[in-house]
Amino acid sequence: MTTLFDSFQLGDLTLQNRVIMAPLTRMRSRQPGNIPQALNALYYGQRSSAGLIISEASQISPQGQGYPATPGIHSADQVDGWRLVTEAVHAKGGLIFLQLWHVGRISHSSLHPEEGLPVAPSAIQPSGMTLTADWQQVPFETPRPLELGEIAGLIADYRKAAENAKLAGFDGVEVHGANGYLLDQFLQDGANKRQDSYGGSIENRARLLFEVVDAVTQVWSPQRVGVRLSPYGTFNDMSDSNPVELFRYVLAQLGSRGVGYAHVIEPRATGAGGGDVVYEDAPSTSQLFRQSFPGMFISAGGYTRDSALQAFDSGHVDAVAFGRLFIANPDLPERLKVDAPLNRYHRETFYGGDETGYTDYPALK
Ligand SMILES: Cc1cc2nc3c(=O)[nH]c(=O)nc-3n(C[C@H](O)[C@H](O)[C@H](O)COP(=O)(O)O)c2cc1C
Repeated sequence: MTTLFDSFQLGDLTLQNRVIMAPLTRMRSRQPGNIPQALNALYYGQRSSAGLIISEASQISPQGQGYPATPGIHSADQVDGWRLVTEAVHAKGGLIFLQLWHVGRISHSSLHPEEGLPVAPSAIQPSGMTLTADWQQVPFETPRPLELGEIAGLIADYRKAAENAKLAGFDGVEVHGANGYLLDQFLQDGANKRQDSYGGSIENRARLLFEVVDAVTQVWSPQRVGVRLSPYGTFNDMSDSNPVELFRYVLAQLGSRGVGYAHVIEPRATGAGGGDVVYEDAPSTSQLFRQSFPGMFISAGGYTRDSALQAFDSGHVDAVAFGRLFIANPDLPERLKVDAPLNRYHRETFYGGDETGYTDYPALK
């Protein structure tokens, strides 16, 4: 019988197991220019026994940046920095995709003073606080709605970022369509009140995501492209009036485009980046949506060893992505396989800082 620890064939890539490292923003690209460096390469290299590493979200443009010290994929220096990372992972036999990110309204103008206000489908200020370029907590600004004439440039930024990911030596890319960032803001009607061809009906709200996917799959074969989605997610002030209909449609369309995998977050861990609350009575998105997507189905969000094995045995998932457990356990697949004790993660070192809480979690051997 196949287990979580057996290999998976994703197109022409052989994943050594189905324990996936979820994308994890760590805000450790502090030097000017948001450039990955040797420390980041060490961190990812330590985690190369994952079946697939999905990198922390990486902004496709200055306007796409939402927090200080997150790495970009729009400049030549950033490409060179990321190359250190991909080489470290490949040297140890691992595989790594880059997560392509535009944060939309989850930003602050101080992060991109030349571009001005954050952009979004609609001028709706998200509730809550955000960080300025110098790490001060302030309320979100009210974003500027993207004009129709700006969409082509936005898609060109995604295409260019996908090309840069190739130059940097990644094995593929994941389009970040989850967690209340720009593409999710377009998808969900709590954030999208547009009255043009990008708002209103489900088809219209999904248009931007598909245009991005179509641009990216001109650079990478569809099998090398994944898409991350978070149905029922409330993180970053998100909501939708009919998530089942919306995400079934989106997943079916992604399937017909031959996208390699769908990476779907369970809403029980919707706020994982900011807190440890788990909503056990939340709907199971792998059960609700697995049938809608014919390709590889990765499920993430609040998994333990037991619940991951159970989800796999239920047949609803092909692979399970782990976030916080991978932060604290560089050799997570081995530990899960032999049921070894797990290191505990330290939330206070998740975001920002140096090697402490980053590259100093011990491996078993
Ligand atoms: C520190 C931290 C950073 C995160 N950064 C990202 C990110 O860059 N992109 C993304 O799609 N999700 C991000 N997430 C969400 C995780 O990928 C994952 O979905 C979430 O942590 C739930 O999984 P877990 O319970 O295994 O941690 C982040 C979560 C945490 C805790």
